[in-house]
Amino acid sequence: MKMLEIKGGNPLSGTIRISGAKNSVVALIPAAILSSEEVTICNVPDITDTAALCEILEFLNVDVKRATESLVINPSKMEIKEIPSIYTKKLRASYYFMGAMLGKYKKVTMALPGGCSIGARPINLHLKGFEALGATVTNKDNIYTVEAKELKGANIYLDFASVGATINIMLAAVLAKGTTIIDNAAKEPEIVNVATLLNNMGAKIRGAGTSNIEITGVERLGKCFHEVIPDRIEAGTYVILGAAIGNNLKISNIIPEHIEALTSKLEEMGVFLDIGADYIIVSSGKDYKPVNVKTQTYPGFATDLQQPLTPLLTMCNGRSKIEETIYENRFMHIPYLNQMGADIRVKNQTSTIIGPTKLTGTDVVATDLRAGASLVIAGLMASGTTRITNVEHILRGYENIVEKLLGVGANLELKDI
Ligand code: EPZ
Repeated sequence: MKMLEIKGGNPLSGTIRISGAKNSVVALIPAAILSSEEVTICNVPDITDTAALCEILEFLNVDVKRATESLVINPSKMEIKEIPSIYTKKLRASYYFMGAMLGKYKKVTMALPGGCSIGARPINLHLKGFEALGATVTNKDNIYTVEAKELKGANIYLDFASVGATINIMLAAVLAKGTTIIDNAAKEPEIVNVATLLNNMGAKIRGAGTSNIEITGVERLGKCFHEVIPDRIEAGTYVILGAAIGNNLKISNIIPEHIEALTSKLEEMGVFLDIGADYIIVSSGKDYKPVNVKTQTYPGFATDLQQPLTPLLTMCNGRSKIEETIYENRFMHIPYLNQMGADIRVKNQTSTIIGPTKLTGTDVVATDLRAGASLVIAGLMASGTTRITNVEHILRGYENIVEKLLGVGANLELKDI
């Protein structure tokens, strides 16, 4: 097991370059198997989620060549096999192989993880989409079999603008006969990145990024070269860190529009942001005003950023509130922040952060990816030493986080325990 030991209090200066988006690449890798030829994807982050998906590709006899920050995936010799849970349980996003294999072979059998710590995370909307396309779904002890004699385009309304369901239905529909409409589709930038890959392969998808996506089925998908977009959640995490203890901290290789809900909230707090075309420079300020945040689907305030934002709000003069509307259980970082000296109460789906309070280092546990990120920010802000265990959660979604932080003056070390 790994532990991150942080000696807090250093102001952070210099540049952090943002990597490719985890929540895009975890869909692009399964999507690549829809091609009959080689697919090259660049700007691939070196995170454990990427490695876990490449293991599944190799299990399916898909040829994967790794180069610096890129993957060359050749599914021409792919085998149809049941994907066991030793592979699929490593990450939720393994379920994208369901849509991709159904779309290509009209049949898929795979184990899927249950809910993860932040909520039940059912896949009912994914399965509703597959059934609308003509598939039958059976589930025996979390082993799903989804198959269809033929996949035919359909009109599918999503009760909730689910990111995963929108992408998985796209993957299943690109080779179907006829046209599929996804109504109330999710609008996250990662969906546009996946649709662009598929169109580069020869698909006919229109409307990605809006709530109405039209997919016209084609016969075959082929070779292409594609780039992963910058990770807006990684970018937002480091911008928040800069507002906490930055001294002209530059976050580069970003698309500022993708984190507009965050930057406007930070400016409302009184954070000064120098926002360029593909970077943000930020420094810690004082006399921050308290703010209210409500998580929403894109382009609203991202649920993935409410946990990293929480330690920063301990610096505000007064009561801030965060209402979490997407997941049922996304406040597991709060008890640890309170152990560090924060004064945060949680009632129903809203946390109230009373500031300003000083944070002091102590031993804490990362319960999930973004809770872990929140504790890293708190540890860097705090006086004294913070030891974070279960750091594997954090390494799933933040490429080279230790090197990136050391590069801007943080004092931290990753240890095996
Ligand atoms: C994606 O998860 C992201 N993960 C999440 O990021 C992110 O928080 C989420 O989108 C929302 O933006 C990846 O892209 C790999 P959803 P996903 O389907 O697709 C409910 C991180 O920290 N729902 O939009 O699972 C679900 O329970 C992770 O990087 C159903 O009820 O999100 C949840 O409450 C965490 N039925 C809500 O919708 C379904 O069939 C949002 O889910 C599907 C979802």
